[in-house]
Amino acid sequence: MRSPRPLLPVLPPRTASAKSRWAWFARRLGAVLGLVAIALVGWMWWASVLPGSYSALDMGVPDFGGGAGSDTHAAAHGHVSAAGTAVAASAPVAEQTSVPDLTADPDRPADVRVELTARAERVTLPGAEPFDGFTLNGSTPGPTIRATEGQLVEVVLRNDDVPAGVTAHWHGVDVPNAMDGVAGVTQDAVMPGEAFTYRFVAEQVGTFWYHAHQASHPQVVGGLFGALILDPATETDAATAVPANPPAVDAVAAIHTYPGGQRTINGALEDSHQDAAPGDIVRVRLINTDSTPTSAWVTGSSFRVLAVDGHDLVGPTDVADHGVQITAGGRADVEVRVPESGAVRVQVPGASLVIGPDGAHVDQVSAPRDQLDLLSYGEPAPIGLDPAAADRRFTYDIGRLPGFLDGRPGYWWTINGGLGAGVPMYMVDEGDVVVMTVSNSSGEGHPMHLHGHHLLVLSRDGVPSSGSPWWVDSLDVAHGESYEVAFIADNPGVWMDHCHNLPHAAEGLMTHVAYNGVTTPFRLGRDTGNDPE
Ligand code: C2O
Ligand code: CU
Repeated sequence: MRSPRPLLPVLPPRTASAKSRWAWFARRLGAVLGLVAIALVGWMWWASVLPGSYSALDMGVPDFGGGAGSDTHAAAHGHVSAAGTAVAASAPVAEQTSVPDLTADPDRPADVRVELTARAERVTLPGAEPFDGFTLNGSTPGPTIRATEGQLVEVVLRNDDVPAGVTAHWHGVDVPNAMDGVAGVTQDAVMPGEAFTYRFVAEQVGTFWYHAHQASHPQVVGGLFGALILDPATETDAATAVPANPPAVDAVAAIHTYPGGQRTINGALEDSHQDAAPGDIVRVRLINTDSTPTSAWVTGSSFRVLAVDGHDLVGPTDVADHGVQITAGGRADVEVRVPESGAVRVQVPGASLVIGPDGAHVDQVSAPRDQLDLLSYGEPAPIGLDPAAADRRFTYDIGRLPGFLDGRPGYWWTINGGLGAGVPMYMVDEGDVVVMTVSNSSGEGHPMHLHGHHLLVLSRDGVPSSGSPWWVDSLDVAHGESYEVAFIADNPGVWMDHCHNLPHAAEGLMTHVAYNGVTTPFRLGRDTGNDPE
């Protein structure tokens, strides 16, 4: 009986010459390597496909940053410590908290109450090309929400007919986690006919904005956003009457590019106008609601940058011949003075806010070459935390690799070399001082945004911050740059930490800072209807 011929004969025919035997080996080797490569790529594809429903907490490899939690985590998984000894059974098991329980005091009545109704509709801004977009209470931007420090803000968001569902995220406001508006992480998307009530206390002061965090890429571009301004409480105490030099005029300037590349400020193409008298001091709250950084510059006045991302700067000085760069998602409050004749123009590429008496004119000018460097602007002041005594140190290293993301082949963003569920999940405990090094070798800049916390910039490329404490919630990290930032983990929850170039978040540049012991009942994935990016 003949034995069956092997699929891949292990030896060449005896009669072959040495040369042809080598060729034979090379061909066989090539065939085997080809099969292995196909199998490997197939496995990578298969392994990247996400289940129809999954938890955000499974989308990352826990990284404890050298702090507490590693032991309890290992114990929970029945692991043995590196020293070979079993982790003590008495290791403290963190108490569990569920995201929906992390709310503002439910018994406290609201001081400010707003209703927002979201609609999908054809939008026609004055002078603009109509586009299929979204409105809130019939307009885009949505209404500016204003509250005073200490007030409880309650916003009822209704979805009239936005098919994908909606949410509202309060960008830069360190709200309780259940109010953060991230579909699939802190709540379910609000589907047509449904409503969700957001409640938070205005503990911060400054310029913020709100936007959809369900299908956020198409929905924010299409108009689901608005400004949120939190004013300082005025002291009723006679001794500390009025704050020094309150600006006479307070102007919101929400910069937004609608579909078709139509750049606007407060929904107006080209010039929008803010009334002010000669000599008036004006606080202009610039909000970059786009996915890429923008420069802003001023003609007709010098300016000072009073605040960035809802944090006042200390000792801001007059700036001339420089622009100020505003990160995607970021804000800068600039102070200008209306001249005795003419007007002030606050300009961004493609749009302007003209401030002055009706009819007053000021020419456009081209962008200044130099940008103000916030790393050295203003005066140093105590920072209120000690980075040298950090409880955890993390690395958030942005790169780019070919691979599969949920079964889709592409050239995806990576975090610490990981993609999809391979990214780090930054685990913290309440009260931790956390230092994070955010570096970028991905070939493109990224506006990085951490929810629920503010980051203090410690250094850039090893150069320490030498100006005012510079707190951000949105930070541009250019290709080749490395920032060291610090934050205090004082707001328990599961918090997105992602790129605010919104398509990039959908392309993998997204992870979470999660508190040990906090769980979420909400699910992501194609079967859930939740799609935060
Ligand atoms: Cu402005 Cu994750 O958002
Ligand atoms: Cu990005």
